[in-house]
Amino acid sequence: MTELPFLPFARPTISEAAIEEVAETLRSGWITTGPKVQKFEGMLADYHSGRRALCVSSATAGLQIALLALGLCEGDEVITTPLTFVATLNTIVLAGGKPVLVDINPDTLNIETSAIEAAITPKTKVIMPVHYAGLPCDMDAIYALAKKYNLRVVEDCAHAIGTEYKGRKLGSCGDIQVMSFHPNKNMTTGEGGAIITDDKEVIHKLERLRFHGIDRDAFNRFGKSGSQQYDVTMAGFKYNMMDIQAALGIHQLPELDGFIEKRTALAKRYIEILGGWSELTLPKSPGYNHTHAWHLFTPLLGKNKAGLDRDGLINAMKAENIGLGLHYQSTHTFSYYSDNYGWKPSDFPNSLSAGERIFSLPLFPLMTIDEQDRVIKSLERVFKRV
Ligand SMILES: Cc1ncc(COP(=O)(O)O)c(C=O)c1O
Repeated sequence: MTELPFLPFARPTISEAAIEEVAETLRSGWITTGPKVQKFEGMLADYHSGRRALCVSSATAGLQIALLALGLCEGDEVITTPLTFVATLNTIVLAGGKPVLVDINPDTLNIETSAIEAAITPKTKVIMPVHYAGLPCDMDAIYALAKKYNLRVVEDCAHAIGTEYKGRKLGSCGDIQVMSFHPNKNMTTGEGGAIITDDKEVIHKLERLRFHGIDRDAFNRFGKSGSQQYDVTMAGFKYNMMDIQAALGIHQLPELDGFIEKRTALAKRYIEILGGWSELTLPKSPGYNHTHAWHLFTPLLGKNKAGLDRDGLINAMKAENIGLGLHYQSTHTFSYYSDNYGWKPSDFPNSLSAGERIFSLPLFPLMTIDEQDRVIKSLERVFKRV
């Protein structure tokens, strides 16, 4: 029997029109930040109810400068979740803040909203919820706390562009949202990110922070109508997005809702088929009205006849030529964080347990039913169900 090709847990969907637009950009003579980024920012703004969208080189860059634009000072506390990609915590540290973790809800795997208030101190400045896997956190409760304690909210929407909370897309209201366009995400620009907000003061700072502290962008400087003169009003970063990237984004964004529909159909099928399996605990929905972008499908592994632990399962599936993802080991267990913040594994028991048992099944818009069946049959084999 010929071996089936390796099935990765994620794969981007890139149209021929997007490829052509990238090629056209390369031929155009203008490949860095320019008209395509401007167009893409306009499209992102339209998608998010007309709020301002600022493209950046990654969500990591976006989170860092969003915090800096809020005037985060040394020692200011930022409340977030331990079950996230480490970029969330790193950006808090890089912006001079101190990450303060609140454990997750074991059902939704999002931050336990009811435990946030107890973590607020006079030094708390920002709440940074992560909409894990594309499932929205309870934002009404989080914004109510922010209002009560005069805090800002930076939503890590790396998994959640296109997700709806109570009938509105994340990013269409609220304080600041940061999207990721990494190739595994709901839509991609290769690498890239965007910050969405309508706070004029924050926008003014972000425009400078993302590009050397210069008071105008490169496109304005090098176009015919632009001027070579500029002032530098702060020591900024070089976090701009290129037109090559935006050329992709211009074609990805109109497809985003369709991508999410395909992800949702596959996720529903996983739930229907795997829902009764004693080896797995599937993610549960919260009670409020929402949609799920299904960036990830992340069961927790329980007892199984084969005696596999999570890492054993990943290896067994690799032997079946199927790639599982790991999103995530709980961040408080990484040595940098345990050494510097004194966090013990048992401090965040729900996140610790999820991080030891979690894995991501293949899920992407181009995945076929045959490929999904292959994943399910392989799981049956490695669990010794058949
Ligand atoms: C929750 C979360 N936040 C932030 C990031 C950083 O995104 P980027 O790769 O665009 O910097 C990621 C990326 O995986 C993520 O999963």
